[in-house]
Amino acid sequence: MRRMVAETRLSPADLILPAFVREGVSEPVPISAMPGVVQHTRDTLRKAAVEAVSAGVSGIMLFGVPEDAKKDAAGTAGTDPDGILQQALRDVRAEVGDDLVVMSDLCLDEYTDHGHCGVLDEAGRVDNDATLERYAEMAQVQADAGAHVVGPSGMMDGQIGVIRDALDTIGKEDVAVLAYTVKYSSAFYGPFREAVGSSLRGDRKTYQQDPANVRESLRELALDLDEGADMVMVKPAGPYLDVLARVADAVDVPVAAYQISGEYAMVEAAAEKGWIDRDAAILETLTGIRRAGAKMILTYWATEAAQKLAGRG
Ligand code: PBG
Repeated sequence: MRRMVAETRLSPADLILPAFVREGVSEPVPISAMPGVVQHTRDTLRKAAVEAVSAGVSGIMLFGVPEDAKKDAAGTAGTDPDGILQQALRDVRAEVGDDLVVMSDLCLDEYTDHGHCGVLDEAGRVDNDATLERYAEMAQVQADAGAHVVGPSGMMDGQIGVIRDALDTIGKEDVAVLAYTVKYSSAFYGPFREAVGSSLRGDRKTYQQDPANVRESLRELALDLDEGADMVMVKPAGPYLDVLARVADAVDVPVAAYQISGEYAMVEAAAEKGWIDRDAAILETLTGIRRAGAKMILTYWATEAAQKLAGRG
Protein backbone atom coordinates (compact mmCIF):
# COMPACT_ATOMS: atom_id res chain seq x y z
CA MET A 1 0.00 0.00 0.00
CA ARG A 2 2.90 2.36 0.70
CA ARG A 3 4.08 1.77 -2.83
CA MET A 4 0.60 2.49 -4.17
CA VAL A 5 0.17 5.78 -2.35
CA ALA A 6 3.74 7.06 -2.55
CA GLU A 7 3.75 10.74 -3.50
CA THR A 8 7.16 10.63 -5.12
CA ARG A 9 8.39 8.12 -7.63
CA LEU A 10 11.88 7.81 -8.90
CA SER A 11 12.48 6.16 -12.23
CA PRO A 12 15.58 5.42 -14.29
CA ALA A 13 14.50 8.00 -16.87
CA ASP A 14 14.87 10.74 -14.25
CA LEU A 15 18.59 10.09 -13.99
CA ILE A 16 21.49 11.63 -15.87
CA LEU A 17 25.04 10.31 -15.53
CA PRO A 18 27.89 12.83 -15.28
CA ALA A 19 31.07 11.27 -16.73
CA PHE A 20 34.71 12.33 -17.06
CA VAL A 21 36.91 11.51 -20.02
CA ARG A 22 40.65 12.06 -19.85
CA GLU A 23 42.96 12.64 -22.73
CA GLY A 24 45.97 10.42 -23.27
CA VAL A 25 45.28 7.59 -20.84
CA SER A 26 45.07 3.92 -21.75
CA GLU A 27 43.40 2.78 -18.52
CA PRO A 28 40.63 4.47 -16.52
CA VAL A 29 42.06 6.52 -13.65
CA PRO A 30 40.26 6.18 -10.29
CA ILE A 31 39.30 9.39 -8.49
CA SER A 32 40.36 8.85 -4.89
CA ALA A 33 37.74 11.11 -3.29
CA MET A 34 34.96 9.50 -5.39
CA PRO A 35 35.29 5.74 -4.93
CA GLY A 36 33.69 3.98 -7.88
CA VAL A 37 34.03 6.96 -10.23
CA VAL A 38 36.85 7.16 -12.76
CA GLN A 39 38.34 9.39 -15.39
CA HIS A 40 37.44 7.35 -18.43
CA THR A 41 39.50 6.56 -21.46
CA ARG A 42 37.63 7.24 -24.71
CA ASP A 43 36.99 3.55 -24.89
CA THR A 44 35.66 2.96 -21.40
CA LEU A 45 33.47 6.05 -21.74
CA ARG A 46 31.71 4.44 -24.69
CA LYS A 47 31.13 1.34 -22.56
CA ALA A 48 29.78 3.42 -19.67
CA ALA A 49 27.36 5.10 -22.08
CA VAL A 50 26.09 1.74 -23.32
CA GLU A 51 25.66 0.52 -19.75
CA ALA A 52 23.69 3.64 -18.89
CA VAL A 53 21.36 3.03 -21.84
CA SER A 54 20.80 -0.57 -20.77
CA ALA A 55 19.92 0.57 -17.26
CA GLY A 56 17.34 3.02 -18.59
CA VAL A 57 19.24 6.21 -17.70
CA SER A 58 18.07 9.02 -19.97
CA GLY A 59 21.10 11.25 -20.31
CA ILE A 60 24.85 11.60 -19.92
CA MET A 61 26.73 14.81 -19.10
CA LEU A 62 30.31 14.79 -20.37
CA PHE A 63 33.32 16.55 -18.86
CA GLY A 64 36.66 16.63 -20.68
CA VAL A 65 40.02 16.41 -18.90
CA PRO A 66 42.76 17.58 -21.28
CA GLU A 67 46.47 16.85 -20.93
CA ASP A 68 48.10 19.40 -18.61
CA ALA A 69 50.35 20.65 -21.39
CA LYS A 70 47.25 21.71 -23.36
CA LYS A 71 45.93 24.06 -20.69
CA ASP A 72 46.43 27.76 -21.34
CA ALA A 73 45.04 31.10 -20.22
CA ALA A 74 42.25 31.13 -22.80
CA GLY A 75 41.27 27.46 -22.43
CA THR A 76 41.98 26.83 -26.12
CA ALA A 77 41.48 23.05 -25.83
CA GLY A 78 37.85 23.74 -24.99
CA THR A 79 37.18 25.13 -28.46
CA ASP A 80 39.49 22.87 -30.43
CA PRO A 81 37.28 20.66 -32.64
CA ASP A 82 39.68 17.85 -31.79
CA GLY A 83 39.76 18.65 -28.07
CA ILE A 84 39.05 15.76 -25.73
CA LEU A 85 35.45 16.70 -25.00
CA GLN A 86 34.59 17.08 -28.67
CA GLN A 87 36.18 13.69 -29.42
CA ALA A 88 34.18 12.15 -26.60
CA LEU A 89 30.94 13.69 -27.85
CA ARG A 90 31.52 12.18 -31.29
CA ASP A 91 32.45 8.82 -29.75
CA VAL A 92 29.37 8.64 -27.55
CA ARG A 93 27.00 9.77 -30.29
CA ALA A 94 28.49 7.15 -32.63
CA GLU A 95 27.94 4.54 -29.94
CA VAL A 96 24.47 5.36 -28.64
CA GLY A 97 22.96 7.64 -31.29
CA ASP A 98 19.80 9.09 -29.83
CA ASP A 99 19.32 6.43 -27.14
CA LEU A 100 20.83 8.78 -24.55
CA VAL A 101 20.49 12.52 -24.40
CA VAL A 102 24.12 13.52 -24.83
CA MET A 103 25.03 16.67 -22.90
CA SER A 104 28.26 18.60 -22.60
CA ASP A 105 29.59 20.74 -19.79
CA LEU A 106 30.11 24.17 -21.31
CA CYS A 107 32.75 25.83 -19.15
CA LEU A 108 36.40 26.79 -19.40
CA ASP A 109 37.68 25.63 -16.02
CA GLU A 110 38.82 22.22 -17.23
CA TYR A 111 40.93 23.89 -19.94
CA THR A 112 42.43 26.98 -18.35
CA ASP A 113 45.83 26.89 -16.67
CA HIS A 114 44.51 29.18 -13.91
CA GLY A 115 41.45 26.97 -13.41
CA HIS A 116 38.82 29.69 -13.57
CA CYS A 117 35.57 29.29 -15.51
CA GLY A 118 36.42 32.24 -17.73
CA VAL A 119 39.26 34.25 -19.17
CA LEU A 120 40.97 36.82 -16.96
CA ASP A 121 41.50 40.56 -17.39
CA GLU A 122 44.78 42.34 -16.76
CA ALA A 123 44.06 42.56 -13.05
CA GLY A 124 43.52 38.79 -12.88
CA ARG A 125 39.75 39.03 -12.47
CA VAL A 126 37.35 36.92 -14.50
CA ASP A 127 36.33 39.01 -17.51
CA ASN A 128 32.61 38.31 -17.95
CA ASP A 129 32.11 39.64 -21.47
CA ALA A 130 35.34 38.31 -22.93
CA THR A 131 34.33 34.93 -21.51
CA LEU A 132 30.97 35.07 -23.29
CA GLU A 133 32.78 35.14 -26.63
CA ARG A 134 34.65 31.98 -25.67
CA TYR A 135 31.40 30.32 -24.57
CA ALA A 136 29.73 31.13 -27.90
CA GLU A 137 32.53 29.37 -29.71
CA MET A 138 32.43 26.43 -27.29
CA ALA A 139 28.71 25.98 -27.85
CA GLN A 140 29.26 25.78 -31.58
CA VAL A 141 32.08 23.21 -31.47
CA GLN A 142 30.17 21.08 -28.97
CA ALA A 143 27.02 21.17 -31.09
CA ASP A 144 29.06 20.32 -34.19
CA ALA A 145 30.54 17.36 -32.32
CA GLY A 146 27.06 16.03 -31.59
CA ALA A 147 25.83 17.41 -28.26
CA HIS A 148 22.04 17.26 -28.00
CA VAL A 149 22.17 19.63 -25.04
CA VAL A 150 24.82 22.08 -23.86
CA GLY A 151 25.12 22.81 -20.16
CA PRO A 152 26.74 26.19 -19.44
CA SER A 153 28.09 25.93 -15.89
CA GLY A 154 30.27 29.03 -15.58
CA MET A 155 27.70 31.45 -14.13
CA MET A 156 28.67 34.36 -16.39
CA ASP A 157 26.00 37.02 -16.79
CA GLY A 158 24.34 36.81 -20.18
CA GLN A 159 25.71 33.36 -21.04
CA ILE A 160 22.40 31.78 -22.01
CA GLY A 161 21.45 34.44 -24.55
CA VAL A 162 24.87 34.46 -26.18
CA ILE A 163 24.94 30.67 -26.44
CA ARG A 164 21.41 30.49 -27.86
CA ASP A 165 22.35 33.02 -30.56
CA ALA A 166 25.59 31.23 -31.35
CA LEU A 167 23.75 27.92 -31.82
CA ASP A 168 21.03 29.44 -33.96
CA THR A 169 23.60 31.19 -36.15
CA ILE A 170 25.06 27.86 -37.26
CA GLY A 171 21.69 26.20 -37.75
CA LYS A 172 21.68 24.31 -34.45
CA GLU A 173 18.25 25.53 -33.37
CA ASP A 174 17.43 22.05 -32.11
CA VAL A 175 20.33 21.89 -29.64
CA ALA A 176 18.86 22.65 -26.23
CA VAL A 177 20.38 24.70 -23.43
CA LEU A 178 20.34 23.32 -19.90
CA ALA A 179 21.21 26.36 -17.82
CA TYR A 180 23.10 25.92 -14.58
CA THR A 181 20.86 28.67 -13.33
CA VAL A 182 21.45 28.47 -9.62
CA LYS A 183 24.98 27.42 -8.86
CA TYR A 184 26.33 28.06 -5.41
CA SER A 185 29.93 28.59 -4.45
CA SER A 186 30.14 25.33 -2.53
CA ALA A 187 32.71 23.42 -0.50
CA PHE A 188 31.12 20.24 -1.83
CA TYR A 189 32.79 20.63 -5.25
CA GLY A 190 36.07 19.51 -3.65
CA PRO A 191 36.27 15.99 -5.15
CA PHE A 192 35.28 17.30 -8.61
CA ARG A 193 38.36 19.48 -8.67
CA GLU A 194 40.42 16.27 -8.38
CA ALA A 195 38.22 14.60 -10.97
CA VAL A 196 39.04 17.22 -13.62
CA GLY A 197 42.60 17.87 -12.41
CA SER A 198 41.65 21.50 -11.78
CA SER A 199 44.43 24.05 -11.50
CA LEU A 200 42.28 26.47 -9.49
CA ARG A 201 43.81 28.40 -6.62
CA GLY A 202 41.38 30.55 -4.69
CA ASP A 203 37.66 30.28 -5.21
CA ARG A 204 34.76 31.16 -7.51
CA LYS A 205 32.94 33.51 -5.15
CA THR A 206 32.91 36.37 -7.64
CA TYR A 207 30.71 34.45 -10.06
CA GLN A 208 29.00 31.64 -8.13
CA GLN A 209 26.23 32.36 -5.63
CA ASP A 210 26.53 32.91 -1.91
CA PRO A 211 24.97 29.96 0.00
CA ALA A 212 23.13 32.47 2.18
CA ASN A 213 20.95 33.73 -0.68
CA VAL A 214 17.73 32.40 -2.17
CA ARG A 215 16.04 35.48 -3.65
CA GLU A 216 19.09 35.93 -5.84
CA SER A 217 18.32 32.51 -7.34
CA LEU A 218 14.93 33.65 -8.52
CA ARG A 219 16.53 36.62 -10.21
CA GLU A 220 19.07 34.36 -11.98
CA LEU A 221 16.14 32.17 -12.98
CA ALA A 222 14.17 35.02 -14.54
CA LEU A 223 17.21 36.14 -16.52
CA ASP A 224 18.00 32.65 -17.84
CA LEU A 225 14.41 32.03 -18.92
CA ASP A 226 14.30 35.39 -20.62
CA GLU A 227 17.51 34.57 -22.48
CA GLY A 228 16.08 31.27 -23.76
CA ALA A 229 16.98 28.48 -21.32
CA ASP A 230 15.14 25.26 -22.21
CA MET A 231 15.78 23.61 -18.86
CA VAL A 232 17.17 24.95 -15.60
CA MET A 233 19.33 23.43 -12.92
CA VAL A 234 20.00 23.89 -9.24
CA LYS A 235 23.40 22.83 -7.92
CA PRO A 236 24.41 21.41 -5.45
CA ALA A 237 21.21 19.52 -4.65
CA GLY A 238 21.11 18.15 -1.09
CA PRO A 239 22.02 21.29 0.89
CA TYR A 240 19.74 23.43 -1.35
CA LEU A 241 16.41 21.56 -1.43
CA ASP A 242 14.55 24.70 -0.36
CA VAL A 243 16.01 26.56 -3.33
CA LEU A 244 15.07 23.69 -5.61
CA ALA A 245 11.49 23.75 -4.35
CA ARG A 246 11.23 27.51 -4.90
CA VAL A 247 12.62 27.23 -8.42
CA ALA A 248 10.37 24.28 -9.31
CA ASP A 249 7.32 26.20 -8.09
CA ALA A 250 8.25 29.24 -10.13
CA VAL A 251 8.74 27.73 -13.60
CA ASP A 252 7.11 25.54 -16.20
CA VAL A 253 10.32 24.38 -17.89
CA PRO A 254 11.92 21.10 -16.80
CA VAL A 255 13.99 21.45 -13.63
CA ALA A 256 17.17 19.50 -12.96
CA ALA A 257 19.30 19.17 -9.84
CA TYR A 258 22.94 18.12 -9.65
CA GLN A 259 23.90 15.85 -6.79
CA ILE A 260 27.53 16.83 -6.80
CA SER A 261 30.84 15.16 -6.05
CA GLY A 262 30.93 16.05 -2.34
CA GLU A 263 27.40 14.74 -1.80
CA TYR A 264 28.49 11.48 -3.40
CA ALA A 265 31.74 11.33 -1.43
CA MET A 266 30.02 11.83 1.94
CA VAL A 267 27.71 8.86 1.52
CA GLU A 268 30.46 6.65 0.10
CA ALA A 269 32.86 7.54 2.93
CA ALA A 270 30.32 6.92 5.69
CA ALA A 271 29.28 3.64 4.05
CA GLU A 272 32.89 2.53 3.76
CA LYS A 273 33.26 3.00 7.51
CA GLY A 274 30.10 0.98 8.10
CA TRP A 275 28.34 4.01 9.57
CA ILE A 276 25.47 4.13 7.12
CA ASP A 277 23.41 1.77 4.94
CA ARG A 278 24.80 2.75 1.56
CA ASP A 279 22.02 1.58 -0.76
CA ALA A 280 19.21 2.93 1.37
CA ALA A 281 21.03 6.25 1.75
CA ILE A 282 21.54 6.60 -2.00
CA LEU A 283 17.87 6.09 -2.80
CA GLU A 284 16.81 8.35 0.05
CA THR A 285 18.97 11.23 -1.18
CA LEU A 286 17.59 10.83 -4.71
CA THR A 287 14.00 10.59 -3.49
CA GLY A 288 14.48 13.75 -1.46
CA ILE A 289 15.75 15.63 -4.48
CA ARG A 290 12.78 14.43 -6.58
CA ARG A 291 10.35 15.32 -3.79
CA ALA A 292 11.76 18.85 -3.59
CA GLY A 293 10.85 19.36 -7.25
CA ALA A 294 13.59 18.12 -9.57
CA LYS A 295 12.38 16.27 -12.65
CA MET A 296 15.88 15.23 -13.64
CA ILE A 297 18.79 14.40 -11.34
CA LEU A 298 22.42 14.37 -12.31
CA THR A 299 24.08 11.81 -10.07
CA TYR A 300 27.26 9.74 -10.19
CA TRP A 301 25.10 6.81 -9.03
CA ALA A 302 22.82 7.09 -12.08
CA THR A 303 23.53 3.72 -13.68
CA GLU A 304 23.62 1.79 -10.41
CA ALA A 305 20.50 3.49 -9.04
CA ALA A 306 18.64 2.89 -12.31
CA GLN A 307 19.48 -0.81 -12.11
CA LYS A 308 18.19 -0.94 -8.55
CA LEU A 309 15.00 0.90 -9.44
CA ALA A 310 14.31 -1.38 -12.38
CA GLY A 311 14.50 -4.33 -10.01
CA ARG A 312 12.00 -2.74 -7.62
CA GLY A 313 9.23 -2.22 -10.16
C1 PBG B 1 32.35 23.69 -13.73
C2 PBG B 1 31.68 22.61 -12.97
C3 PBG B 1 31.91 22.22 -11.65
C4 PBG B 1 31.07 21.12 -11.39
C5 PBG B 1 30.36 20.88 -12.56
N1 PBG B 1 30.73 21.82 -13.51
C6 PBG B 1 32.90 22.67 -10.67
C7 PBG B 1 32.94 24.03 -10.12
O1 PBG B 1 32.12 24.89 -10.39
O2 PBG B 1 33.89 24.25 -9.37
C8 PBG B 1 31.00 20.38 -10.09
C9 PBG B 1 30.40 19.02 -10.14
C10 PBG B 1 30.62 18.22 -8.91
O3 PBG B 1 31.19 18.70 -7.90
O4 PBG B 1 30.23 17.05 -8.94
N2 PBG B 1 32.81 23.21 -14.98
